[in-house]
Amino acid sequence: MNKLNYQSVILIVDFGSQVTQLIARRIRELNIYSEICDCDISDENFENYLKASGKNLSGIILSGGPQSVSSFLDEKKYTKFFFNKVPVLGICFGMQIMTKIFGGTIKLSENREFGYAVVRARGHSKLFDGIEDRRNAKGHGLLDVWMSHGDSVDQLPENFKIIGSSKNCPIAAIANENESFYGLQFHPEVTQTRRGSEILKRFSLQICKAKNNWTMKNFYELSISSIRTTVGKKRVILGLSGGVDSSVLAVLIHRAIGDQLTCIFIDHGMLRLNEADEVMEYVSEDLKIKTIKIFAKDLFLNALKGLSDPENKRKVIGKTFIDIFQREANKIENVEFLAQGTIYPDVIESAGGVSKSAKKIKSHHNVGGLPDILHLNLLEPLKDLFKDEVRLLGKALSLNPRILKRHPFPGPGLAIRIIGEVTEERLHLLSQADKIFISQLKSTKVSRKDIKDKLVDSSLLDRYWYDVVSQAFTVFIPVKSVGVQGDHRTYEWTIILRAVVTTDFMTASCAKLPIHLLEDVSNQIINNVKGINRVAYDLSSKPPATIEWE
Ligand code: XMP
Repeated sequence: MNKLNYQSVILIVDFGSQVTQLIARRIRELNIYSEICDCDISDENFENYLKASGKNLSGIILSGGPQSVSSFLDEKKYTKFFFNKVPVLGICFGMQIMTKIFGGTIKLSENREFGYAVVRARGHSKLFDGIEDRRNAKGHGLLDVWMSHGDSVDQLPENFKIIGSSKNCPIAAIANENESFYGLQFHPEVTQTRRGSEILKRFSLQICKAKNNWTMKNFYELSISSIRTTVGKKRVILGLSGGVDSSVLAVLIHRAIGDQLTCIFIDHGMLRLNEADEVMEYVSEDLKIKTIKIFAKDLFLNALKGLSDPENKRKVIGKTFIDIFQREANKIENVEFLAQGTIYPDVIESAGGVSKSAKKIKSHHNVGGLPDILHLNLLEPLKDLFKDEVRLLGKALSLNPRILKRHPFPGPGLAIRIIGEVTEERLHLLSQADKIFISQLKSTKVSRKDIKDKLVDSSLLDRYWYDVVSQAFTVFIPVKSVGVQGDHRTYEWTIILRAVVTTDFMTASCAKLPIHLLEDVSNQIINNVKGINRVAYDLSSKPPATIEWE
């Protein structure tokens, strides 16, 4: 697919920090396009990347990282190629690397400084000018910031000055303003640094002069023309799952190429109860896009037989999807593209992006390339978007809120919510339990008591819990426990309830559901789903857990 030209890009060089993606998100919230690239990129590849992407580089941010600068530089023989084009902001490790490259020194430390700190702005700098939380008695601007570092800058490089210091860290912010190089020992990307977004805004807009034209309307217009140029007169098939991503994708591509698009909805038998009918209903009522429905439960269940490893299950499901697409593509003349709803976190989390430092967490079934035998090219117009941006795009496309409000549902479906082997019995138990949980969330509203109990804030009064949580589902775990029902001993399976609150699905916390709602759901499941005698609620956040269990 043709690369979109977003006109203005802030490139984030990833040195392996856990919060690199947050930097990208913060910049995008300013309506500036940002992208992450791996710190291992060579001089030559960096030039090629800039040329090939057709993007205008406005600025570079060097992320934090877990390693020590000295050993890192010895290993990498780092050059200065990030520093001869545009303004650069180094954050934490990024500032230390900048210091070292320009001849300053780093003080190594065994002790980490972790948590809040107050930074006093020193001297005048474009980066901090007028940005402060409060002033001290002498009239110096003070910033409440979040620190997380061991090593720190000891001696400044030539032509750099100190622009901020804290009690434990005398060189907490530096600048070479002639070159527009800045370094911050603290993290402006985390919300704990209260003026962090303002600082990033100052850097991106005023110092880099990046264009803040990254809006979904703009993205839509660019995508439409890019899809048309890429596809020409060929045909496209699209795997529609009924989720937000693939629905937005279908509408976007349909607006670009109309009937050259055929959607394929595969019912792999591991969907939610009645999901297949609901999807086909809104496809015909709302989307009005040509869609073929394929029922392939036996094919999937046979392929999954005996498998319990999560990665194997995901891979087998991905392959079976591809086999079906292959078969269907052969039936349609002139098909040259397979459209997929891959989004940016999929690319990052499957370690398939520009950033190699990211560790592979899960093989999202829509990332990983296509086998050569498929003879189809991939069309992935959403692959630069974060999940909440896809919803914004859906709004810009006037998609029915009924679709946009649907919780995400993973491509591999209930298969990754059944821990261990997928069997008919387990699918039956899980889909029944899931229906009960979701129905309860859809019919229970946030009450005054919930607000008084500080479960949610008052703006959510009277909203249905389904709309308050970002994603909710049940998980089957292959654990049996003893119970008693009537006068009988039972020895049956366990269901886990999971509900999370998140904006970007890359970090999430467990939803604080009222205990009466959880109890209701538990009772209903145990009384109505024969084979389940225990229900538990998952309290973990992401990280360290993930949202799905597999
Ligand atoms: P995790 O479990 O990685 O999930 O925290 C983050 C979000 O991604 C969804 N998810 C998937 N979506 N194909 C998809 O289309 C997949 O293979 C897949 N795996 C996870 C998950 O439901 C959550 O919203």
